Amino acid sequence: MKYKYEKVFPEGGAVRVAGSAGFCFGVRRATERVEAAVRAEGPGDRLLTLGKLIHNDSYISRLSDAGVGVISESDIPRVAAESETGSGDTYVFIRAHGVTRETEAALADAAKKYPHFHYIDCTCPYVKKIHRIAEENSGGGNSFILIGSADHPEVRGIMSYFNGRKNAYATSDELLTALENEKMDKSVKCAQIVVAQTTQNTAEWKKSLKIIERLCTNAIIFDTICNVTEVRQLEAEKLGRMCDLMIVIGGQDSSNTSKLAAVSRSVCKDTVRIANAEELDGIIPNAHLKVGIVAGASTPDDIIEEVFKTMSETKIDKVEIEGENFDEMLNSAFKTLNTGDTVTGTVIAISDQEMKLDLGAKVTGILTADQT
Ligand code: F3S
Repeated sequence: MKYKYEKVFPEGGAVRVAGSAGFCFGVRRATERVEAAVRAEGPGDRLLTLGKLIHNDSYISRLSDAGVGVISESDIPRVAAESETGSGDTYVFIRAHGVTRETEAALADAAKKYPHFHYIDCTCPYVKKIHRIAEENSGGGNSFILIGSADHPEVRGIMSYFNGRKNAYATSDELLTALENEKMDKSVKCAQIVVAQTTQNTAEWKKSLKIIERLCTNAIIFDTICNVTEVRQLEAEKLGRMCDLMIVIGGQDSSNTSKLAAVSRSVCKDTVRIANAEELDGIIPNAHLKVGIVAGASTPDDIIEEVFKTMSETKIDKVEIEGENFDEMLNSAFKTLNTGDTVTGTVIAISDQEMKLDLGAKVTGILTADQT
């Protein structure tokens, strides 16, 4: 397994960061577009993201410091109208999760109506692909089954592209209950179009597919779980099996981080979820422990590095006494003696052959009988 960062301690412990931890392709693409716009911003320009660009509050506050605001879908008409009165242009960024078809239409209409209003679509191409599947398979009596969280923005966006009966199920249990209650009519020829949220847990997806194969009459299955998600979940599982403690870094509202935490917890019961290094609170480095670190797709690299640095700190096994380093105290408590120094010592042992003296140094003085 490849690691992004690794520190192995002679005491047997180690701190290892999963190789793929950090921004995924879709999130990196979206953040790079917004950052490029910040660099190119002209006088009077307004930069806005539709919802938080990524699920990471530290990153969002950095964007806010750079003048990038956050708006919601209901703000679009007002912001578009304001673009006419300002001295620059207004740019609205769609984040990697994508938006509903209606929202995209509202943005397109506003851009047509107001020449100083623009929108930049940063929807991840993998999510766009699911929009297309939903759109192209709409109608004809088909129904749409999505394995994912109905209230997630990505899922709301995907569902909006399908015309017809559609349902999202967060778990295979939910799906099973729904399909059993539905009592499929085997004579009906229309298809059940099945897709997954890009960040769906792969184990849940596989369980769901078994249920669909058993209960659906004419299922057409599209495996739309993003490869990034699969790789990260596999890494979390492998690392979790090897470690005493797992740290999962990501925003509390990040769906892929929640799934990584669940995978990790299933193999390593000491799994903690944090948003940044400050939340390590009480978790201290230990050179005897094997610690694994994984991170959600919207966790910036500097946050991962900070957690790694904190956990791999090497001054961990030295004994601290009243805030001082024990080794330093030990060294400073003794004098260094050089050849020719005249010293005063305390006799600590006498025998027929020698006399031992405490010289207040790292060594004990020994005078043989013929030297006394
Ligand atoms: Fe896209 Fe996959 Fe990331 S769907 S946003 S590359 S997790």
